[in-house]
Amino acid sequence: MTVISKIESIKRGHGSPERPLAGELWAADSLPDFPAHHEEGNYDPTYEKVDYARYYDRDYAKQEHERIWLKSWVQACREEDLPAIGDRLPLQVGPVSFFLVRTGADSFKAFYNSCIHRGTMLCMKHESGDAIRCPFHAWEFKLDGSLQYVPSHWDFKMVTPKNGALREVKLGRWGGFLFINADPEAPPLDDVLGVIPKHFAAFDLANRYTAGHFRKTVKANWKLTQEAFMESYHVVGTHSAAIPFSGDTQSQYDIYESGEAHIGRQLTPGGHPSMHAAPEVTPAESILGAAQFLRDMHHPDAELPELDLSQPVRPQVAAWFRGLESARLGRPCTLPDGIMLDSPLYFMFPQTSVWLSEALPFAYSFLPHESDPELSYMEVRILKHWPEDEARPEPAERIDVAADEVVFDKAPVFGFLGMVFDQDFENLPKVQGGVRSADPARHYAQLGDYQEFVIKRFHELLDEKMAG
Ligand code: FES
Ligand SMILES: [Fe+2]
Repeated sequence: MTVISKIESIKRGHGSPERPLAGELWAADSLPDFPAHHEEGNYDPTYEKVDYARYYDRDYAKQEHERIWLKSWVQACREEDLPAIGDRLPLQVGPVSFFLVRTGADSFKAFYNSCIHRGTMLCMKHESGDAIRCPFHAWEFKLDGSLQYVPSHWDFKMVTPKNGALREVKLGRWGGFLFINADPEAPPLDDVLGVIPKHFAAFDLANRYTAGHFRKTVKANWKLTQEAFMESYHVVGTHSAAIPFSGDTQSQYDIYESGEAHIGRQLTPGGHPSMHAAPEVTPAESILGAAQFLRDMHHPDAELPELDLSQPVRPQVAAWFRGLESARLGRPCTLPDGIMLDSPLYFMFPQTSVWLSEALPFAYSFLPHESDPELSYMEVRILKHWPEDEARPEPAERIDVAADEVVFDKAPVFGFLGMVFDQDFENLPKVQGGVRSADPARHYAQLGDYQEFVIKRFHELLDEKMAG
């Protein structure tokens, strides 16, 4: 990949010989012939100060709707959410609703959720049927959006098949996800995915099912919510119990720029003590903690691995986890250690994040509230392979977690990670209140040189797009 701009003087993480940086761990991994392992970012963002007004200002939110939300590829749902031909699902993007339809065994379409007659919304929830019928005056549309029936057609001679069809928006597919883009001039989805398809090829997201799913309403702007998941710098402050098991300071941050594609990545070693952890925490203790987590989360009946402490412990736990996954799936799991143990999280502008991690096989989607810039939604899915000889499992139902509810109670399938999400969500209303309360004479966030790379690039891109 061509290097666009890298700054020599930046210190890229803080590690030690005993607690190496993520990149050093990945270089030493078994099965290292994996593009994500050796392809680093090619651009260093320099944005430093984020004006707080963009987190609450209604004019900013209005412009953001026009310039970002109606012009970007927005993750809508998974193909498995629409299993049968005729299935439909609405997607609310700020004030505008769309809906997606499965039109065939392997085809989908997306439309503005607005009747051609007098605007009634045509899809309010997951529903199915051969025709899309408006509840108001019963105009009917075929699944491909064409107009099928108008009661008293003698009164609507001006309505033709051409001007009476539902208004379509672009739809793109990747890895089992459906994306929409309301901009007819938008580049194809493939052009904005950048390194993601290559890095995720062997991870095979298309052949995963939703094993857990929640949507949380957050009392914070969608950007603040998303930014809480764009760095590991907050681990020491917010998830301090993770410090012995999560190499936050040794994380690698990458920005991959190519044409229309803007991809960010944070790569945090798992089962690896942080530089913030007490000096006596050993790599063996740390990796055993990770093994316990992997067992509880993925293989509750498994025995913990017996480690040979005279040898490096990380590959032993990765091999143990690969063995459990191979047995569960009925085929060999051949992903490298870093994918089995660490937390590589990829971000695609403006609202999609996907983990390239068998330990944390999650996907995130962030959306603004219908009308209030100080509220947002975050959707989280667990995406898992299923055993080779079994039919694709039904996707888990989405659990809606209200602003004052906690994930740990409402979505037990997330286990103790529900609590970790709750720690993040507990911060966010405080951040929202604080950005509003800052002295007008010092009204900005101060981003660090390296660990907030992904946030820095996010705001550079926002500025570019907002400037039109
Ligand atoms: S508004 Fe849809 S048929 Fe009248
Ligand atoms: Fe967090």
